[in-house]
Amino acid sequence: MRTLTGIQPSGALHIGNYFGAIKQMLDLQKSDELFLFIPNLHALTTLKDAEVLRNNTLDAAATLLSLGVEPDKTIFWVQSDVKEVIELYWILSAYTPMGLLERAHGYKDKIAKGILPNHALFSYPVLMAADILLYSANRVPVGKDQIQHVEITRDIAIKFNNEHGDIFTVPEAKTEEDIALIPGIDGAKMSKSYGNTIDIFLSEKELKNRVGKIVTDSTPMEEPKDPYTCNVFALAKLFLDKNAQDELAERYKKGGEGHGHFKAYLKELIWDYFAVHREKRAYYDNHRDEIIDILRDGARRAREIALPMIEKVRELVGIYR
Ligand code: ADP
Ligand code: TRP
Repeated sequence: MRTLTGIQPSGALHIGNYFGAIKQMLDLQKSDELFLFIPNLHALTTLKDAEVLRNNTLDAAATLLSLGVEPDKTIFWVQSDVKEVIELYWILSAYTPMGLLERAHGYKDKIAKGILPNHALFSYPVLMAADILLYSANRVPVGKDQIQHVEITRDIAIKFNNEHGDIFTVPEAKTEEDIALIPGIDGAKMSKSYGNTIDIFLSEKELKNRVGKIVTDSTPMEEPKDPYTCNVFALAKLFLDKNAQDELAERYKKGGEGHGHFKAYLKELIWDYFAVHREKRAYYDNHRDEIIDILRDGARRAREIALPMIEKVRELVGIYR
């Protein structure tokens, strides 16, 4: 099974991203051939500060490597390092009906948020189709908001295949149905856009501070508390096995401990869980050259797969060489 996905270089990742998406994706390294890239060309549709885009790209690479991308198993690269994707994007554009893109929710949502409707924003799904089809991916893990883009990819692949034979693999989107939404410090879905996140790489002091801000009810210390309506418990659960979850629930039900105790416990859980990743992160921050070498090697391996595909496509559509 060839699995491919792109993770936007859009700043610090939070615990919701990790438990809702990244962890499952990295687990696939055990069973699948994983292709993972940083879609910096897609990011350009909304991010117009060169310095920020450049930094975010390396930052995303450092984050993903620290969280467990294994470059000897996974092909890991920056999108713009394999230029053939841009050529395929253009060729696919000639096979993409306008109506298909006009129906895209992603585009409409971004415009509604006040982002300038530039052409790249509109043709974003075609570049995404090129990302996927260039490497003959079978499976594409994405968040729910990206399912339509994978469907557009399927439509484009089928249209092209109908004219030229069975060239492209028609991919399937893979979403995590059973992952519960992870609450933020205010109890709403944890999200960058709500400012309620707990980021993965905080200093110990920042983490303590952030956990301290989690909204809890005002049950007095001595009284029993309901773990199942408590935001602190909902987050602590992510780090505990079933037995430890039951033990914590008992502490809630018994009374005698205040939310401050549970928050201190949660802070330790988060701090300890990410200790190894934090060390790796510090290492990569001091060895930026190593990140660049890994990405370059990933791009070389990705290109080995991309080249025969683009050559076949050129030939089929009649691009002169
Ligand atoms: P944000 O809402 O912070 O902008 P993204 O939309 O960039 O996050 O999400 C990236 C990935 O992380 C998606 O696959 C999404 O489903 C997952 N994710 C984000 N927030 C949560 C959450 N609170 N609970 C579970 N999964 C989440
Ligand atoms: N559009 C995706 C997102 O915003 C990122 C992405 C770009 C992608 N190209 C892709 C995801 C190809 C999967 C496959 O999250």
